Amino acid sequence: MPKVTIDGHTIEVAEGTTILEAARMIGGEVAPPAMCFYSKLKTSGGYCRTCIVKVTKGSEKDPRPMPKPVASCRTPVMDGMEVQNKTAPDLVDARAGVVEFLLINHPLDCPICDQAGECHLQDLSYEHGLSKSRYDFKRREFDKIDIGPNIKLHMTRCILCYRCVKVAEQVCDSRVHGVLNRGDVSEISTHIEQALDSDFSGNVIDVCPVGALTDRTFRFKSRVWFTKPVDAHRDCKKCCGRSVLYMNGQEVLRVSVRKDTWGEVENTPEGNPGWLCNECRFEKKSASDWSIEGVRNIDRHSVISQNKYLEVKNLKIDVSNQKLIGEKAHN
Ligand code: SF4
Ligand code: FES
Repeated sequence: MPKVTIDGHTIEVAEGTTILEAARMIGGEVAPPAMCFYSKLKTSGGYCRTCIVKVTKGSEKDPRPMPKPVASCRTPVMDGMEVQNKTAPDLVDARAGVVEFLLINHPLDCPICDQAGECHLQDLSYEHGLSKSRYDFKRREFDKIDIGPNIKLHMTRCILCYRCVKVAEQVCDSRVHGVLNRGDVSEISTHIEQALDSDFSGNVIDVCPVGALTDRTFRFKSRVWFTKPVDAHRDCKKCCGRSVLYMNGQEVLRVSVRKDTWGEVENTPEGNPGWLCNECRFEKKSASDWSIEGVRNIDRHSVISQNKYLEVKNLKIDVSNQKLIGEKAHN
């Protein structure tokens, strides 16, 4: 089993484990950010470079450092490898450069973006971004389009991470969208603006790390941090039926998959990714459609839990009639 040291923490991992996966096993700040890698989607990663790390020692056999930062999501661990993430100031600078590139075209329209509060690029720009852009040229701009009745594509915000394309390939029964063109004219699009109509197409919303794909049934209904996320489940023949309901009082504003600490879909107890079907996501918008389990603990990335979770902890779920009681302190 190869041994790798990342930011001073040593861990033994299985052959073939990537640096990013090893860093996630250590956890916390040691794990680099990842905008395109998604462990539940095969062949993801390698597009965005936010996960770069500095390899100061290649391996026990060949201790030479790697000459430039490497994408940790695509680089397997070698025995004796030494890696720096947060502890190398020049690497942190290099990552700030990556963020600056991503922000060349991405508008900082967080105040009106539905993804605000749970956007990985928003977090990165707080951590690394410059207060103004050095870019003088015209930015890419696209009209917003509806790809089907439930999904809005705002291509101007897309960072071309390919996650949604891989969901269409690997989770849906067919793929009718993809990346058209190349270089600075690349764009996510459906061919002749078709709708995404697979039963599982709504999952593209959950994997999108920015606000390029949003839920039309939730758009502009509420800032996400004003909602109360609760875990819920229902008997569904098509999917696992395990979700998070974002509630306002008794109203279900949004239904999403349950996400883990890395912002990826959680596995079900059977060990499969807990993707949701469109019926559960878009049509079951009443609390009585669901069995509510309790308040969701949201602990990373997010302002969602700020200021109110202490109060929300006092909430009780009246399971017999699916009501949240004692919610006066919320918001
Ligand atoms: S639309 Fe979202 S998920 Fe799809 S490539 Fe763009 S940023 Fe990635
Ligand atoms: S997360 Fe590794 S390149 Fe995007």
